[in-house]
Amino acid sequence: MNISAFVDDFENFFGTRPRIFRAPGRVNLIGEHTDYNDGFVMPAAIAFSTYVAVAPRDDRQIAIHSRQFPDQFLFDLDNLPRQRTGTWCDYTLGVARELIARGVKLPGANVLVRGEVPIGAGLSSSASLEVASAFALLGQAASTLPRPEVAKLCRQAENNFVGARVGIMDQFVSCMGKAGHAILLDCRTLQYEAVPIPAEIQLVICNTMVKHDLATGTYNTRRAECEEGVRILAKSSPAIHALRDVSADLLQRHERELSPIISKRCSHVIYENQRTIDAARAFSSGNLTRVGELMAASHCSLRDLYEVSCRELDVMVEAAQDLPGFIGGRMTGGGFGGCTINLVREENAEDFAAQIADRYQAATGIDPQVYIRSAEDGAQELCLT
Ligand code: GLA
Repeated sequence: MNISAFVDDFENFFGTRPRIFRAPGRVNLIGEHTDYNDGFVMPAAIAFSTYVAVAPRDDRQIAIHSRQFPDQFLFDLDNLPRQRTGTWCDYTLGVARELIARGVKLPGANVLVRGEVPIGAGLSSSASLEVASAFALLGQAASTLPRPEVAKLCRQAENNFVGARVGIMDQFVSCMGKAGHAILLDCRTLQYEAVPIPAEIQLVICNTMVKHDLATGTYNTRRAECEEGVRILAKSSPAIHALRDVSADLLQRHERELSPIISKRCSHVIYENQRTIDAARAFSSGNLTRVGELMAASHCSLRDLYEVSCRELDVMVEAAQDLPGFIGGRMTGGGFGGCTINLVREENAEDFAAQIADRYQAATGIDPQVYIRSAEDGAQELCLT
C-alpha cells in the first residue's frame, strides 16, 4: 500500500490533509465455528489491511467514498439511516451508529477507504473495515475506547446493522493482533494469550476463488443447530449455557437425546474447542507435528461433522499434504469456499505456493491466488511524516 499516494488522493478529493488508520484482516489457525458457542479460537491478524483516511468537515455530515467502488455516500450524523443500505458503506455506518449509541460525540467527517483484504475470500475484509472505521471515527472525536470494547462494538455493528450474526473472532483479532503471534481467545471472557508462531514458519493462504451461495444462510442454520443442541443438553444440567459448557463425556452420555445432525454439530464444536487449546499448547512446546495433526483433524471435522467445507476447499487441503515444508493445513473461516491456511517452513514457502497452485488448477480448472503472509499487529494509526 502506497500511503503517500493515498494521502494525496484524499487531499485531491476532499481538499484537506487526513489522518490514516489501518486495520488488518485475519486467518484463523484453528477453532472454527466455536466463537459463537462461547468457545476458543486461534486467529492471527495478517498483512492485508483496510485503510481509512479521515479529516473533519465543518458541518454535521459524514461523507464516505472509496476509489474501488463507484458510489459516494453522504449522511447526516444526527439522522443516520436506521436500516442498512445494502452497500459496503453499511460497515462504516453501522460502526458510527454504535459509537453514537455509546455517547461518543462524532463530528462531521470526510472518509476515504482503501481495502487490500481480498473481498469474499473469508479473510475478514468486513471486520477490518469496521475496525479501521471505528478507530478513525474515534480519532476524529478525540475519544478512545479499550480495544476489546472496540471489537465488541464492531461486532454489534455487524450483528445489529449489517444483519450478519457473526461471532467476535474477526473483530477481536483485527483490534488485538500481534506481529509474529496467533491469539488464543476465550470468546466467553475475552481473555486472550498471544501464542508465538515460530519465526521459521510462514502462513500460506490459498484462495480457492469460490464462494458458494450457501455461506450466509448455512452460517445461520449452523448457529440455530448449536442452539438446539444447547436447549436439549441444558435439561441435564442447569450449568449449560452454551456448547462451551458441554464436556465430551456429557455429550456421549446424552447423545441419544439429540438427532444425528445436532449430535454431529455439537461434536464438532466440543472437540474443536479442545483441539484449539491443545494446538496452543503444542505451539508453545514447539511440537509442530502435533499442531499439524490437530489442523488436519479440524478440517475433517468441519467437512464431515459440521458440513461447511466444499469440494474446492477439500481439493486445496488435499493438494498440500505431501509438499515439502508442509506442517499443517485446513479450511479457514466460515466455509463453503474462501481460503485454506497452511503452515509451511519458510525456505519451502515459495515452492509450496507454486506447486499447490498447479495442483489445484489441474484438479478444478480454477486459477487460485496464494498469499504468503506473516502474523501482523492489530489496528493502528499510521504516523505521517
Ligand atoms: C466467520 C465469522 C466468525 C466465525 C467464523 C467461523 O468468519 O465472522 O465470527 O464464526 O466464520 O469460525
